[in-house]
Amino acid sequence: MNPDIESILISEEELGAKVREMGEEITRRYAGREPLFVGVLKGSFVFMADVLRCIDLPCSVDFMAVSSYGAGTESSGRVRIDKDLGHDIKGRDVVILEDILDSGTTLHYLLKVLAERGPASLAVYTLLDKPARRKKEVKAEMTGFTIPDAFVVGYGLDYDEKYRNLPYIGVLRPEVYGG
Ligand code: IMP
Ligand code: MG
Repeated sequence: MNPDIESILISEEELGAKVREMGEEITRRYAGREPLFVGVLKGSFVFMADVLRCIDLPCSVDFMAVSSYGAGTESSGRVRIDKDLGHDIKGRDVVILEDILDSGTTLHYLLKVLAERGPASLAVYTLLDKPARRKKEVKAEMTGFTIPDAFVVGYGLDYDEKYRNLPYIGVLRPEVYGG
């Protein structure tokens, strides 16, 4: 295990099983349609790559990059679009894939911005949900795991751009971020 990790919260095997379940659920929910999957960069790229391969539908893929965190572990409360979609989403079934729903600031903002563009439908599937620190109400269609109020990394999630490549979700030692 990486020495900066205090404990493994969700193992590689548990992630695999849950991601498959989410992919199958999305396949059932969108049968007969052709959704556009929007990954929220960068944290969702591992989850997105895995869940898409469990989805049996014709689909397209796009990405948005937003930032609200900077280098710390607390949201700044403000969201900035660093990269916008390449697709026109008017009349499309849009599915947002996100790594973690924490304060809700990011998804609340994204849902508002994308809803204004007139999609046929707009839904959120998030791998992790950390309800303890919620500031903005966000309705997710499905969440993979509800987790306690700890700062986690791995499987796409970072601290200061590191640890995204860990195959599990682990709790970062507070010493690492001066907590
Ligand atoms: P929110 O806007 O506070 O809901 O936070 C969403 C974003 O904050 C996520 O997409 C992550 O990039 C980041 N984030 C929130 N909690 C964690 C965590 O425990 N580990 C790593 N990143 C996190
Ligand atoms: Mg991040």
